[in-house]
Amino acid sequence: MGVAVEVTGLTKSFGSQNIWSDVTLTLPPGEISVLLGPSGTGKSVFLKSLVGLLKPEKGSIIISDTDIVTCSEHKLYDVRRLFGVLFQDGALFGSMSLYDNIAFPLREHTKKSESDIRNIVLEKMEMVGLQGAEGKLPGEISGGMRKRAGLARALVLDPEVILFDEPDSGLDPVRVAYLNQLIVDLNAQIDATFLIVTHDIGTARTVPDNLGLLFRRHLAMFGPREQLLTSQEPVVRQFLNGRREGPIGMSEEKDVAQVEAEMAALEARGGDAHNGVGPKGASGGDAVPPQLDPSPGLPERKAVRRRQERVARMLHEFDEETQAAIRKSLPEDLLAQAESGAFTPTPGQGGRHWAPEANAGQGSSTATAVLPRSGGEG
Ligand SMILES: Nc1ncnc2c1ncn2[C@@H]1O[C@H](COP(=O)(O)OP(=O)(O)O)[C@@H](O)[C@H]1O
Ligand SMILES: [Mg+2]
Repeated sequence: MGVAVEVTGLTKSFGSQNIWSDVTLTLPPGEISVLLGPSGTGKSVFLKSLVGLLKPEKGSIIISDTDIVTCSEHKLYDVRRLFGVLFQDGALFGSMSLYDNIAFPLREHTKKSESDIRNIVLEKMEMVGLQGAEGKLPGEISGGMRKRAGLARALVLDPEVILFDEPDSGLDPVRVAYLNQLIVDLNAQIDATFLIVTHDIGTARTVPDNLGLLFRRHLAMFGPREQLLTSQEPVVRQFLNGRREGPIGMSEEKDVAQVEAEMAALEARGGDAHNGVGPKGASGGDAVPPQLDPSPGLPERKAVRRRQERVARMLHEFDEETQAAIRKSLPEDLLAQAESGAFTPTPGQGGRHWAPEANAGQGSSTATAVLPRSGGEG
């Protein structure tokens, strides 16, 4: 199972330019999370901070009991090996074959023999659907294949956390659909913790378990997909519906009176439900569409049941609309427990909406955790 990434009070500036402040969120182990935000809000800076390439001034990032903001370089080197990163452009070496690109981290960071390396490289290439393309140069293949190659390279050290920086950028909608399916399939196969930065609303609406939105130098919201997809928060609604009306302006912030006038005009036209089909996967369809399942023949994602238990436990913290959406996603046993108040509240989570499972990390490979009950046994 992937590891949790626990970010608390994180603040990052470059000189006098503050990028974001007081970002607090937890990526639950093995779950898929998506981070949204207007261009330039510091999403890439956030990903680079998570792998220790940039140093935030304040706050902590706890991974496997290590705070990578304050730990030694030596320790950071160890923790970094838990990560696989798919950079925006795939970041492949142009003069190296795909095989050598994908083998690169193994040759750099391990003492494996070339025959072991070969097995791993071919296995990962097959996982991402690149079998047979070993000898190709990055310049000879399509953008979609380059992303897959970058992904295969991110997989070779068996990461427990994978970060994707705009994996859909530059791809046509069909390639985005294939890539999204690949991401869900990989998650089912390796059960690692995924964080995806994207502008594609279709992706945001169907792929992740959790959604977050960076806006105006803060994390506006982070939580289960149902929470953001049903949110009435103006900036969340604007982004997830991909429309001009709302607080996010062309270049900078709009004034309050203008936003109010725009919103009134939008509501007069019928609101988002009648907004038609917008860009990047925005649509006036169901607020909470079904989540993408792994391809037939693959195991179920282990994170699904873990997440159901997690959101069932915090069901009553949400507003009515979010609760209704979460109820629809829960199996009967968990729904009954949630409704009867059988779950002990998660103490001291400060809105992080996540607490470690009672039996986490005890070598259990089963997907279901024993649920704490308030009413004793039976
Ligand atoms: N290494 C750096 N030094 C100085 N400023 C940077 C650096 N990296 C990013 N920035 C600035 O941080 C801001 C956020 O950048 P970025 O994380 O790339 O945004 P996003 O990925 O959300 O589009 C931008 O204003 C950018 O210029
Ligand atoms: Mg970026």
